Amino acid sequence: MTDAIWSPQQQQSNLAKGKRELDAIVTHLAKETQRIRTVLVGPGTLYTHPKSKIEACGLAFIHPIPIDLKSSYQPFLLVSYLEAAGLDYDLGIVDLYPNGLQLLHTQEEIRLRASDFREFPTAERLFNEYVARCKLSEGEYGRRKVEQVFEKDGLEVAFASIPKTFRRKRKAGEVRFVEGNITEVGLPFAPLDLIVCLNVLQYQPDTEARKRALSNMRNQLGNGKYLVVNDIWDIVGDQDQELGVLGWKSIDPEIQRPDKLLGGYVLQKVDP
Ligand SMILES: C[S@@+](CC[C@H](N)C(=O)[O-])C[C@H]1O[C@@H](n2cnc3c(N)ncnc32)[C@H](O)[C@@H]1O
Repeated sequence: MTDAIWSPQQQQSNLAKGKRELDAIVTHLAKETQRIRTVLVGPGTLYTHPKSKIEACGLAFIHPIPIDLKSSYQPFLLVSYLEAAGLDYDLGIVDLYPNGLQLLHTQEEIRLRASDFREFPTAERLFNEYVARCKLSEGEYGRRKVEQVFEKDGLEVAFASIPKTFRRKRKAGEVRFVEGNITEVGLPFAPLDLIVCLNVLQYQPDTEARKRALSNMRNQLGNGKYLVVNDIWDIVGDQDQELGVLGWKSIDPEIQRPDKLLGGYVLQKVDP
């Protein structure tokens, strides 16, 4: 039993990704404003592969008949931090493909395999932290059995509601969903306070496309505002010099972690 190794499901569920960066930046933003304009780029999707039963993200759009397809949990993770910091928000969610966006229109709860909690205490801790940030009350989270392919007696899951403000704003049409390419798309609510774009840029064809995406996001941030991003290693290199040329400053070099899948940089828009 180890706290260091996280289950594949937990990594892919998005509950772990960027949490340190989100925690830091949302606390920071709460000192600047009470209502933030934010966009999440590339939420992806989760699906349970019928054979491996491992949840993967972002690939579902290439599977014509995905089994047990769920929305990404990343928007809910982001909103859980905003709620915990007492921040109101305008939220846009942008993706190149429609699948993940459509799922986010109806998803009501997040689910993790309860059996993972025995083997990976970190998974349970992240789940409990999410429940606490969202201030969920009894009945809004817990355990239940769900029917699942290859699970004769059903699968025990830990479930938790999506954040209350997300459900309310979605119903009111206040969460904006945009299908578009981050290298060029106009972002809702710009000029923005915060853009979160994790594990998206690595799928662009080359460094030039990643730079175009960075530039497009930079243009739609307010002056001195923030981008949480990870996969720009080819641009950053060993030094932050290139970032400066492109008009960014890494606000906390400590936050650049070796595990690049789970987190990365909090960049601030500065004059080049
Ligand atoms: C691997 S998933 C990442 C999911 C999630 N952000 C995470 O960290 O787990 C990549 C997502 O980025 C989207 N994507 C890829 N290229 C994009 C682009 N040029 N513009 C907008 N979205 C893009 C994909 O459709 C997919 O939903």
